Amino acid sequence: MRVVVLTGAGISAESGVPTFRDADGLWEGHRVEDVATPEAYEAQPSVVQRFYDERRAALDGVEPNAAHQALARLEEALGDDLYLVTQNIDDLHERGGSQRVHHMHGRLRTALCRACRGRSEVHHPLLEFPPCPRCGVPELRPDVVWFGEVPYEMDTIIAELQRCDLFVSVGTSGAVYPAAGFVQYARQHGARTLELNLVPSEGTYFFDEARHGPASRLVPDWVDELT
Ligand code: APR
Repeated sequence: MRVVVLTGAGISAESGVPTFRDADGLWEGHRVEDVATPEAYEAQPSVVQRFYDERRAALDGVEPNAAHQALARLEEALGDDLYLVTQNIDDLHERGGSQRVHHMHGRLRTALCRACRGRSEVHHPLLEFPPCPRCGVPELRPDVVWFGEVPYEMDTIIAELQRCDLFVSVGTSGAVYPAAGFVQYARQHGARTLELNLVPSEGTYFFDEARHGPASRLVPDWVDELT
């Protein structure tokens, strides 16, 4: 059985990573459009760099929770029949044991060079504008997909949605496209669909089944059922 799992900020909430919409639309005091758009970066690069440097530094203070670990168990059981795509830019899936994680909105831990387009692991705050380890030019930006930019790996994600038997959405509000449309696309191609979220998401009616509660309980229970 082929399974696609989409995760959002809700799966990391119990690890202490704030979600976007539970913080009444503010990200640590910033309006999203002030920090998560290419225009914001052009207008005030230091504000944007500092915002992501702070979120990257905060990663050292959080741990994966039982939901991340359960998805790693699921990967062991299903192998290549599991496609895990996340909207999250944190590294908790990897630290929870998942080997193959597809970050459609990018990753805090990597930087993207605006000069050579190369990616590199971040070892210094980007606010210091360190030189790109590949081309030497000090033009490293967060490797994060901002509003108005194209999410990563969309072709592969679409192909996986077309051929999966089960689509499961974990901890996402269903408020931001294209991820919010994945459930409808999977249904159109014959997949069963399951929502695991604290409360009904904006797209909950598109799902065949919806279970509501904390991911740290719902996800392990579901993985135990499936394996
Ligand atoms: N367990 C399960 N679900 C939870 C938990 C929890 N402990 N805590 C919160 N949630 C749910 C909330 O009910 C909400 O539906 O997680 C969802 C989080 O929604 P958002 O904050 O909107 O996060 P997300 O859906 O990942 O946002 C999508 O929007 O801001 C952009 O690019 C950003 O990737 C992000 C995208």
